[in-house]
Amino acid sequence: MRHVIRDLVTATALAGLVLAGCDGCSEKDKKQAEQGPAAGEKVTSEGGSLPSLESFSDIDKEADRSREIFQSIGTVLKHPRCVNCHPTEDQPLMGDRSRPHRPMVVRGKGGMGAPGMRCNTCHTNKNYQGVPGGAGWRMAPAEMAWEGKSLAEICRQIKDPERNGGKSLEQLAEHMAEDNLVAYGWNPPEQYEPAPGTHQRFGTLARAWIDSGAHCPDAE
Ligand code: HEC
Ligand code: HEC
Repeated sequence: MRHVIRDLVTATALAGLVLAGCDGCSEKDKKQAEQGPAAGEKVTSEGGSLPSLESFSDIDKEADRSREIFQSIGTVLKHPRCVNCHPTEDQPLMGDRSRPHRPMVVRGKGGMGAPGMRCNTCHTNKNYQGVPGGAGWRMAPAEMAWEGKSLAEICRQIKDPERNGGKSLEQLAEHMAEDNLVAYGWNPPEQYEPAPGTHQRFGTLARAWIDSGAHCPDAE
């Protein structure tokens, strides 16, 4: 009897794995999901988790701590869930390999697409049948492009009110912790990998980076 139950549990867990990502999978699978794809899987992004704020507490010098925290924040900023909306060209990117958006769409006024091909023709307020979504779905302005840039560059750029939409450091911290398009990074449709860690931890690290002086990594 017992082994029948066990087999049933295994079968259910496997079905769950296939159908619902990682609901009901083993500790090992969960760890794998946290850490991102196994070696050899063709995903260019890093996936993985975010360290806790406490893990930086043994770095004595505040500026060094700030830079180290930013390195972790950077694994999110450089993730396709964010970069795909912060591209260099005039089109968004899509997927875990940041391919050009198909169908072909352009930035248009306010990043909302060209007339007749607006983002909200297809993207609604939430993910729907594999089409990602979120209120105000649109491309980040060209001056907020991160694609292909070093973390040092991205760092200077997001702090610069001339390039970040006039945000103070306080507003930048709020944006990272609360903006709904940032939140999307951890809640994509199933076919995409979420950004590393959790949004909450990301918000905490962003706040700590700013509170420790918002130091940027040295130019690479
Ligand atoms: C659907 C598109 C979209 C996605 C996905 C997206 N962003 Fe943005 N992002 C925008 C837009 C639009 C703006 C400009 C909004 C503003 O200035 O208020 C922006 C602005 C920003 C800014 C302001 C500063 C600057 O220079 O860019 C930060 C920081 C930011 N996003 C972080 C993120 C992070 C982190 C992620 C991923 C977890 C992310 N974004 C995902 C569209 C997106
Ligand atoms: C004709 C419909 C359509 C229009 C218009 C459209 N999209 Fe998309 N978009 C899609 C579909 C469908 C997907 C998902 C494709 C897939 O995963 O195979 C997608 C995916 C994306 C992704 C990938 C998200 C990620 O996490 O990788 C981004 C970013 C995106 N669209 C931004 C935009 C922006 C910005 C606009 C307006 C300038 C826009 N789209 C206009 C249909 C559209």
